[in-house]
Amino acid sequence: MIALLEKSKVLGEVKVSGSKNAFFPAVGAGIALGAEKIVIKNTPKIKDVFVMLELLKELGCEYKIQSSEVIINAEKIKLNDVSPENFGKIRGSVVIFGSLLGRFENAKIPMPGGCKIGKRPIDQHIKAANSLGYKVEEKEEYVKAYGTPKKEGKIKFDIKTVTGTENAILMSINSKVEIENVAIEPEVQELINYLKKYGVDIRLENKEDKILIDGTKRKKIKEAEFELIPDRIEAGTWLILAAATGGKLKIKNVIAEHIKAVIDVLKECGAKIKIYENKIEVEGSEKYKSVDLLIADSYPAFPTDLQPQICVMLLKAEGKSRIKDNIFPERFSHIWELKKMGADISLENGEIIINPSKIYGAEIEAKDLRSTAALVIAGLVAEKNQTILKNFELIERGYENFVKKLKNVNAKIEVFEDEIRKEEIIKGISNYVPYST
Ligand code: EPZ
Repeated sequence: MIALLEKSKVLGEVKVSGSKNAFFPAVGAGIALGAEKIVIKNTPKIKDVFVMLELLKELGCEYKIQSSEVIINAEKIKLNDVSPENFGKIRGSVVIFGSLLGRFENAKIPMPGGCKIGKRPIDQHIKAANSLGYKVEEKEEYVKAYGTPKKEGKIKFDIKTVTGTENAILMSINSKVEIENVAIEPEVQELINYLKKYGVDIRLENKEDKILIDGTKRKKIKEAEFELIPDRIEAGTWLILAAATGGKLKIKNVIAEHIKAVIDVLKECGAKIKIYENKIEVEGSEKYKSVDLLIADSYPAFPTDLQPQICVMLLKAEGKSRIKDNIFPERFSHIWELKKMGADISLENGEIIINPSKIYGAEIEAKDLRSTAALVIAGLVAEKNQTILKNFELIERGYENFVKKLKNVNAKIEVFEDEIRKEEIIKGISNYVPYST
């Protein structure tokens, strides 16, 4: 898919969808709890969700979708092998490991995939299973864990990992376990809430980096129902998009606390932001203050999943900005594309250096989900020419109805299945008339 983009100032209202990365632990919680029916409300209709649902089918589940509700019948879930092809398409699939261990004390998974944003090993997930007393067999193509987990145990992560923490929780659901050095991203905290709802004694110690779980006294359940929180990365993308285009947006269905670090940076740069209950208003400007050093790190710090997007906005700052991504230190694919648009952006000792620059429409290519979002923002900011963004379909992995939402707020974007005809580009989006309506 190709997106054709033209300089725009966004204006209007946008509603954030349910969280992609909260969907996977919700599925995991339902399976690990032993539920036969799992209902997940506020589910975004995005590709990564559909891939996960296909994987559940391979495990013997059935599902149906009613509006934004996904209903999974897990009565006949089995320890089938899941296809490496589907498993490797997304990272969220890795929670199947902890879920199956929680349900059957046995799990076999192929190596997981996800966006190509650097190395993504699963040694910490394996460490968690080992610490719980499972026997783990690690081969090039799969990981298998089995045996009887300890009734009481301790897992200590070497680094903070989001899905690793989720897996550790899921595999500990029938034991009493202390999990140390955990990630506390809102999606992890939601998993804690999901399990609490169904009688698991679980808590985050003093909002610190320790989770205490005791599932030994929980009751069996037949049905589990969860409602996904709003997607904080989608919300943050809209905030940055509005600021970068100098537009004005009302962003609805947001939990401001989940993107506090983003709000703080934007305010510091000079964007006007008003926070209401479940809603944020943002008003951009033409010039911003630079940031000395922005560090993307584990929650509550600035999220790595918004690092590519903020790079585009900082091109409009009056001085030099530096960004360091501690989570994915090689998440750079957007940089080379922004350079093609004329941006003065480079790498120095692992830091991204952004100097004030005007960017111009060009032919560019997205490589992963969040860089696609960043390059859309770039296309809406770029002067003179239109931008041709290749591999635009990547956006469908994580943003529900993105094009429709963009058009609703006056963004000039048109999407083409394959090649764009020359006359289309010349005509310009402002004068664009679709072939068939
Ligand atoms: C989750 O991935 C998210 N995915 C990612 O969202 C997000 O970028 C990431 O957390 C960081 O916030 C889902 O929730 C499905 P990590 P995850 O384990 O869990 C290293 C998006 O665009 N590590 O917290 O895979 C790892 O290499 C995406 O929505 C190990 O070394 O991330 C990374 O440097 C992309 N060994 C760091 O830890 C391990 O066993 C943090 O990764 C596990 C991770």
